[in-house]
Amino acid sequence: MKEKRSPEVNLFWMVHSKPEQNFEWLKTNFSKPRMYLLPPTLSCPTVQLSNGVEIPILGLGTSHDGGYSHDAIMYALTDCGIRHLDTAKRYGCEEKLRDAIKESGLPRSDLWLTNKLWPGDYGYKAAQQACIDSCRAMGVEYFDLYLMHWPESLKPGCPNREMRAETWRALEDLYKRGVCRAIGVSNFLVHHLEQLKEDCSVVPHVNQVEYHPYQQPKGLMEYCRSGGIVFEGYSPLAKGQVLNNPVVQQIAKKHGRTAAQICIRWSIQNGVVTIPKSTKKNRIQENCQVFGFQLDEEDMATLGGLQDGRHVTWDPTNVD
Ligand SMILES: NC(=O)c1ccc[n+]([C@@H]2O[C@H](COP(=O)([O-])OP(=O)(O)OC[C@H]3O[C@@H](n4cnc5c(N)ncnc54)[C@H](OP(=O)(O)O)[C@@H]3O)[C@@H](O)[C@H]2O)c1
Repeated sequence: MKEKRSPEVNLFWMVHSKPEQNFEWLKTNFSKPRMYLLPPTLSCPTVQLSNGVEIPILGLGTSHDGGYSHDAIMYALTDCGIRHLDTAKRYGCEEKLRDAIKESGLPRSDLWLTNKLWPGDYGYKAAQQACIDSCRAMGVEYFDLYLMHWPESLKPGCPNREMRAETWRALEDLYKRGVCRAIGVSNFLVHHLEQLKEDCSVVPHVNQVEYHPYQQPKGLMEYCRSGGIVFEGYSPLAKGQVLNNPVVQQIAKKHGRTAAQICIRWSIQNGVVTIPKSTKKNRIQENCQVFGFQLDEEDMATLGGLQDGRHVTWDPTNVD
């Protein structure tokens, strides 16, 4: 039996059946399209966390480094179909993201929002309060993923291990209360994760660390994977440093792609959740077009050989 649909539902179906073709037409032909329409969604694979929740493998980074562009975020959400945004209290753009999310008209449930707790807010009570404040700042009731940003305690006299454990217990409780659908850590090394396992009960769902062809912490990656922790990579373009590498450029030429697309694709083919940042619309569009081609085994091995161990962001090696 054919279902009879209201005009609004019909519009919804048109857009969702062929989003790329219909969205432009609808935008120009309806004066208030956003009342009825959801913007197109990028067809993006997901990675399942140990609790069954699925994180989109490609997201968009935001940070204090390099500035913030409202237009670029809007473009990512409404034209490119990006649904995964990575931010942190530290980046200072929570309220700006709230405005963009609201303006996009996207239902909360369509988005994946990662936020991070800054060490200045570590400690049981402070961490819980900071998470609630960040939710409020972003105009949401929950985060999909909430991370401890850095493994170090900033509180004089409070050892790092103790502070991490106390703070993690706050995240465990936020998770149990449903304020966070998943919880994790960032910049944690194997010894930090081992200690946390001894001290706490929920194993982090995610560890977000620096990852690009120059920085490939293989031991950490293996440890995470064997322990059911999803490995997420930040600075996938090495903040632009890897884009001029002749080897990357040669592979880009071979595939008729850009160096940035090669690096993002390389992360994805390694099963690493990746969050390139750009404040430019054309680059955001470029960075999304990474699903229509495949790097071959030789390309993967060549890119894997570029590791030189450099960090372009920060290095937690000396944090006990
Ligand atoms: N957990 C942590 O401690 C941590 C640390 C660092 C970063 N992160 C997260 O990871 C995200 C990404 O990392 P990141 O910003 O450090 O580095 P990135 O994504 O490797 O590189 C960003 C830089 O590359 C440029 N860029 C982007 N796309 C490009 C393209 N297609 N062609 C040429 N240049 C391009 C950007 O400039 P334009 O803006 O001018 O395009 C920007 O300068 C951050 O936004 C943040 O969400 C997390």
